[in-house]
Amino acid sequence: MDSKEIRKKYLEFYREKGHAVIPSSSLIPEKDSTLLFVNSGMFPLVPYLMGETHPEGKRLCNAQKCFRTDDIEEVGDMRHTTFFEMLGNWSLGDYFKKEQLNWIFQFLTEKVGLSPERLYVTVYRGNPEIGVEKDSESVEIWKGIFGKEGIEAKDVDFAERNGMQEGRIFYYPDGENWWSRTGSPDKMPIGEIGGPDSEVFYDMGEDLRRHENSPWKDSPCHINCDCGRFIEIANSVFIEFVKKEDGFHKLPQKNVDFGGGLERLAMIAQGKESVFECDLFLPIIRKIEQISSYKYRQKIRSFEVIADHVKAATFIIGDEKGVLPSNKGQGYFVRRLIRRAARHGKQLEIAGGSWLSKVAKEVVEIYGEAYPEIKKNSSFVCESIEKEETLFYKTLEKGLKEFEKLKKEKVITGQAAAFLYQTYGFPIELTEELADERGQAVDKKAFYREMEKHKDLSRELSAGVFKSGLADKEEKTVKFHTATHLLLAALRQVLGESVIQKGSNITSERLRFDFSYDRKLTKEEIEEVEKMVNKAIKKDMKVEKKEMPLKEAMDSGVLASFEEKYPSRVLVYSITDRKGNVFSNEICSGPHVGKTSELGAFKITKEEASSSGVRRIKAVLN
Ligand code: ALA
Repeated sequence: MDSKEIRKKYLEFYREKGHAVIPSSSLIPEKDSTLLFVNSGMFPLVPYLMGETHPEGKRLCNAQKCFRTDDIEEVGDMRHTTFFEMLGNWSLGDYFKKEQLNWIFQFLTEKVGLSPERLYVTVYRGNPEIGVEKDSESVEIWKGIFGKEGIEAKDVDFAERNGMQEGRIFYYPDGENWWSRTGSPDKMPIGEIGGPDSEVFYDMGEDLRRHENSPWKDSPCHINCDCGRFIEIANSVFIEFVKKEDGFHKLPQKNVDFGGGLERLAMIAQGKESVFECDLFLPIIRKIEQISSYKYRQKIRSFEVIADHVKAATFIIGDEKGVLPSNKGQGYFVRRLIRRAARHGKQLEIAGGSWLSKVAKEVVEIYGEAYPEIKKNSSFVCESIEKEETLFYKTLEKGLKEFEKLKKEKVITGQAAAFLYQTYGFPIELTEELADERGQAVDKKAFYREMEKHKDLSRELSAGVFKSGLADKEEKTVKFHTATHLLLAALRQVLGESVIQKGSNITSERLRFDFSYDRKLTKEEIEEVEKMVNKAIKKDMKVEKKEMPLKEAMDSGVLASFEEKYPSRVLVYSITDRKGNVFSNEICSGPHVGKTSELGAFKITKEEASSSGVRRIKAVLN
């Protein structure tokens, strides 16, 4: 069963059970600063899980692209990836545990064809400190489900760490069986929602046990010990709680938030031992084999790092709200992904110039149909990856010289490692390997502490950068918003239609606009753009809003920067002169001024590079 079929069957299964299929949202969160990337399907649904009415109803499902920064280090063990596709279904205060657990079991066994004998489940063991009880309700439901298959399902509390104890249902604490976007209850910020979960694991077989690598290697093997034998394939979260200053409170409604990784399901359905051998990865692996002349099984880690990281970079750069490699925020991760992949190319002895974009092309091949945005942006993605890769090869040499200077040190300090990373783009793994060759150690903990400082700083710096948001609705910001539409239209007229919006940020002082363009603008071009915007202002053009179906808007050539996440009906703002000539036409939720004459004089104060392939303009209205 190929992955397309699994995806289709899943959505059909839930559609038949009354769920509306909603589109995947962008990987870049909209209004949320808790995390840099969307890490689960529930992310865009938080307001609805908290009680807002969703326009598509109370039962939803989709396939969502996800990126988990925490898993970067784990890539290389044949089952972890940073980017993955999550199959999800939600009940927004509608059905609850009984339906959810029965349906997901039915889907896994009847639709994907997994043997019930191979399935094991976990439930929340409760935590009196936060006032949440053990999930006996789910245990009873699971007993019933397994019972119908003729399997007596014994429940076992794993607290004693006594191995499997012939159990089928296992109780685990906060660390394993509580889910929120930020993890266990103690890690949740105030205002965050979450709840107990119940996970389904697939038994890959005793022979796949690699227990010596498990964090639990001194205790008997169990289903959460992460040795590779048991693979989590499904997670039903019962989102019932919100964290407040004085503890956990019940939400006004009981929700279900389900997620299952498509790659893992495909791996099992296709009888593979590694997610990198399922059809969502195999063509990528084959491509790397071609380029490198090594085989996957000879260099598992390097192959997996390259395949995973290039896939993730392709999806992040090719996203509706694409982010390019840089030193801050999300861009920082894109940089790390590309550089780490490039460096692992050295492990595979890939010589010559840049090659990562060849791998990116395979990613587009596999996903272009399900995620059209990466196909549409494929040349931009490949160029950006190539640029970053080339840049890295240049600093790599300089960095090696710098590294030579540390020859006499016993230990490479965290600061030195951070300096190598920040100045020469050395991933910590590279510094470690180089140090190891010379018999030196690296103070990795101190390095991470340094990086944490950097990360916090990045987070602050990135706040607002990629959000196309208005700081507030003051009169001045509304004017800047309309001026931004005029600016984009003028840029496209002067520089060509390849110009697309890459980011917008408005304060009451100025507008800031990022757009795709690969060189500095000339003085003449800047003047021409300015003149064109001022002319549109003088002409006192009308700004009008119209609601229409998304398809109609797209068909009529309206500008849309982030079309994938638009609802089925959208607002279109058009700016037209008295003769009816359209100057600008964009999908946008407003607000805007009524007439352009309200704007005053438009002046570009700065034109500069924002990141590679993206320019930034700042402008004021006087
Ligand atoms: N949101 C849950 C998860 O990511 C389903 O596992």
